[in-house]
Amino acid sequence: MPNKKQPGFATRAIHSGQEPDPETGAVTVPIYPTSTYVQQELGKNKGYEYARVSNPTRTRLEENLAALEGGIAARVFASGMAAINAICTMYKSGDHVVCGNDLYGGVPRLFNQVLANFGMEFTYVKTSDAKNVERAIRKNTRMVYIETPTNPLMSLSDIEAISQICRRKKAELVVDNTFMSPYFQQPVALGADMVVHSTTKFLNGHSDGLGGVVVCTTREQADKLAFVQKAAGAILSPFECWLVLRGVKTLAVRMEQHDRSGRVVAEFLADHKKVKKVFYPGLPEHPQHSLAKQQMTGFGSMITFETGSLSNAKKMLQRVRVCSLAESLGGVETLISHPATMTHAALGEKGRREIGITDGLVRISVGIEDVEDIMDDLDQAMASI
Ligand SMILES: Cc1ncc(COP(=O)(O)O)c(C=O)c1O
Repeated sequence: MPNKKQPGFATRAIHSGQEPDPETGAVTVPIYPTSTYVQQELGKNKGYEYARVSNPTRTRLEENLAALEGGIAARVFASGMAAINAICTMYKSGDHVVCGNDLYGGVPRLFNQVLANFGMEFTYVKTSDAKNVERAIRKNTRMVYIETPTNPLMSLSDIEAISQICRRKKAELVVDNTFMSPYFQQPVALGADMVVHSTTKFLNGHSDGLGGVVVCTTREQADKLAFVQKAAGAILSPFECWLVLRGVKTLAVRMEQHDRSGRVVAEFLADHKKVKKVFYPGLPEHPQHSLAKQQMTGFGSMITFETGSLSNAKKMLQRVRVCSLAESLGGVETLISHPATMTHAALGEKGRREIGITDGLVRISVGIEDVEDIMDDLDQAMASI
């Protein structure tokens, strides 16, 4: 018998976990807004008891996201931060984590201001050089946590190289794949032990719901995280699960368009006389352009650029009309933000200076509007600086 061919990505996005409802034939997964389930008799139920423990809409989303990332299971949480926090609750006081030094600002805030109080230890290194990870690993290191590309400096880490170090040193590699989505980057295939996303971003894709997911590669991780869902309770609501199930159906076409427009806008910015520097892995001058081509199948639509000063950034940001000045990313609409005062404010001035987040940096999440309109808008906004 020939091997059964695995369906392609877009097919899995639309059909994995999203099979027609067996009861009614509904082609979309129903939302089950119930907090509890009737039991036929004591100890006998249909697999569901109480909605913090499990919910059929959530089960379907978890199946879908596991299929897209190539994991064995997935567990969804109330936000990306809740998902990252859930991973950390699998470790204990005295455990050490090596992590990237330019992560989304909320992650070091959680690590330093919450989890360090419970005795977890964190070391921040430039993970774009895998040797820094190896050097920072100690006897008590249990996890290596990376984002690639990073937010907002678009620096890459070599997932495969770091995963080999982790294997040798017996630490688990967790990759935040939010910026690329599973459409452009498959960390599990490159050796990651767990993949995390803020589903708030590209997976939902419409800026209408918070959420987070951890994709697991072992039964042990999946069981532990199911226990964390039940014990700590930061689960994703059925309605928000459904929004991600709906959003993910168009992930492939959205990512294709995000990528096309991202490349065009990055080149436009690179040629613009008011822009001092552009951070985008799709540009040949990006220092890790060849790694980007090797471990990603697209470059996405996250671009960061240098306007030169806080006052330049402020002037242009208050003049945008098509782009919306807002935190977040990955929606169909173009969102533009100022890392120093928004996403990375919690790092403080010194923390930002150490990793190169200047006051003039602006980050753009290129949406899927007509790309000419996005460029015209950026051009007119930059005429003010
Ligand atoms: C890369 C990355 N990871 C995680 C998060 C946290 O996700 P959430 O806002 O859904 O909690 C964010 C939020 O911006 C992010 O950009």
